[in-house]
Amino acid sequence: MSDSQKFTLPALPYGASDLSPTISSDTVDLHHGKHHQAYFNMLNNFADGTKFMDMELDEVVVESYKEGNVKVFNNAGQAWNHILYWEQMAPGGSNAPQGKLLEKIDEAFGDFDTFKTDFTQQAVGVFGSGWAWLIEKDGKLEMRGLPNAENPLAHGEHALMGIDVWEHAYYLDYKNVRPDYVKAVLDNLINWDYVSDRLQ
Ligand SMILES: [Fe+2]
Repeated sequence: MSDSQKFTLPALPYGASDLSPTISSDTVDLHHGKHHQAYFNMLNNFADGTKFMDMELDEVVVESYKEGNVKVFNNAGQAWNHILYWEQMAPGGSNAPQGKLLEKIDEAFGDFDTFKTDFTQQAVGVFGSGWAWLIEKDGKLEMRGLPNAENPLAHGEHALMGIDVWEHAYYLDYKNVRPDYVKAVLDNLINWDYVSDRLQ
């Protein structure tokens, strides 16, 4: 392996058709195989010959953001964001938040249904490309809507879940109807046990 391929795209933790019908295999193939791969390719290109080659991906995200290295950050951020995106999905269907996670959701947002409504609003409110995030801060849950590749990690915050609202994430399946995509992912695909395991 040459230095220029230091950062490599992880394989999907399930088959491309396993998120269907909420997210089609065509979308997964394109989103993981083309878009997510391209962020790694560009990260390797822009980081080649720099100190970033000696860092882990999460360090690259933090350092490149701090320095304002936009080319490295945009691609490292998106490489990192999409790893979480794929990992947090439960092929075959969602479960429900339980225990400590449910308590924190109730405490922060009232109840799980209100949380889903508010989170969808947060995602719809991201103008253009970006992400909607659920974070844990000082033991409490909060939401963030961030543009482009920006993520909680770059802001020194801890991400529990993130929904990609770039059009490439939903346009084939939902056309321009972003709220339907976000709602369907929250209802049908998020593995709340995975989100719970990320609690600090
Ligand atoms: Fe994406």
